[in-house]
Amino acid sequence: MTSSDIDRYFDALIRDIPDFPKPGVLFKDITPLLADHDAFTATVQALAAAGRDESGATVVDKVIGMEARGFILAAPVALALGVGFVPVRKAGKLPSATYAVSYELEYAQATLEMHTDALEAGDRVLLVDDVLATGGTAAATQKLVGYAGATVQALAVLMELSFLHGREVLGQTPLLALRTL
Ligand code: PRP
Ligand code: MG
Repeated sequence: MTSSDIDRYFDALIRDIPDFPKPGVLFKDITPLLADHDAFTATVQALAAAGRDESGATVVDKVIGMEARGFILAAPVALALGVGFVPVRKAGKLPSATYAVSYELEYAQATLEMHTDALEAGDRVLLVDDVLATGGTAAATQKLVGYAGATVQALAVLMELSFLHGREVLGQTPLLALRTL
């Protein structure tokens, strides 16, 4: 699988939806990509590369997906890497003790949570989400990982919206973006 194969899948199977969820926003709909077995498989393998070294060995202990769209991608990436999956969820959804981080949205606040026992101190973690936009979601998740004494090895996303400069809030964390817009 080459990057041009991924490009072909993305061109054919990620569709633009104008004015969703509100006027002026061009929504990137990945559901056709998910529905195509070959494209979904190639995408998961490409994201999983962020959790491997040059020899192909897995170098992370856990994969985190951020609710909701991150779940769809992160769980199969965890299986591809042979490690466990950890959900980072929106406030009030996790049943046991949690760490919580709040961050600013355009007109509101959002809170993300992770179970306090989801990671062990020293764990190396790969974050997976569909889109890196302002970086608020990724930065909050990095903080949650830090609270657990673990470290983020990399962030892997399908699309980086580079005009929103999310990369700048990630600090030193390596970013794998399969497509940059
Ligand atoms: C979207 C997207 C990313 C996040 C990126 O999630 O799935 O998780 O925004 O934006 P940021 O870099 O500015 O944080 P959202 O919470 O809108 O919805 P979802 O529950 O459908 O994933
Ligand atoms: Mg999301």
